[in-house]
Amino acid sequence: MIKPHLFAAIGSLALGVLSLSGCGPESDDAAGIEMPRFEDPLLAEGRSVWMGTCRACHLLGVAGAPAVTDYANWEPRIAKGMAALYKGPLLGIKGEDGKYKMPPRAGNDRLSDTQIKRAADYMIAAVQQLHAETQAGAQAN
Ligand code: HEC
Repeated sequence: MIKPHLFAAIGSLALGVLSLSGCGPESDDAAGIEMPRFEDPLLAEGRSVWMGTCRACHLLGVAGAPAVTDYANWEPRIAKGMAALYKGPLLGIKGEDGKYKMPPRAGNDRLSDTQIKRAADYMIAAVQQLHAETQAGAQAN
């Protein structure tokens, strides 16, 4: 016979698995976009840099920045490869009016080149992950 407290233990185990798989109510932003987490420590470091500096423009797409959820905008950029993609946040990107759309070092001089590259790596991984989740969601419906 299975004792009631064992049921409770199994129940909380199942809950633990659910929250691990990212189905919990936790959301990183009022906009309801849950920014992916990756086990790779370099991407985890990139995530924290991204949260601190890049998120301001790239979460929702402020000031002409491609939003993390805008895969159509990212697809041709990703096709250029990471080496090309690093140049934007490192050197800045100017608009046709000659003014910076994205300032050099994303406006944060405290960041090292490596930190900026990791933030870019994280953003591209997150863009692809969010896109994959959308595709899976579309199939489930
Ligand atoms: C002040 C707003 C702003 C911030 C902060 C910002 N970006 Fe951007 N970012 C932009 C804009 C605007 C563009 C699009 C420029 C264009 O292609 O005309 C862009 C484009 C990019 C691109 C694509 C470049 C390409 O070649 O297509 C990458 C990669 C990128 N940003 C990375 C970052 C990273 C990494 C950070 C944080 C370290 C960051 N951005 C912070 C505004 C910002």
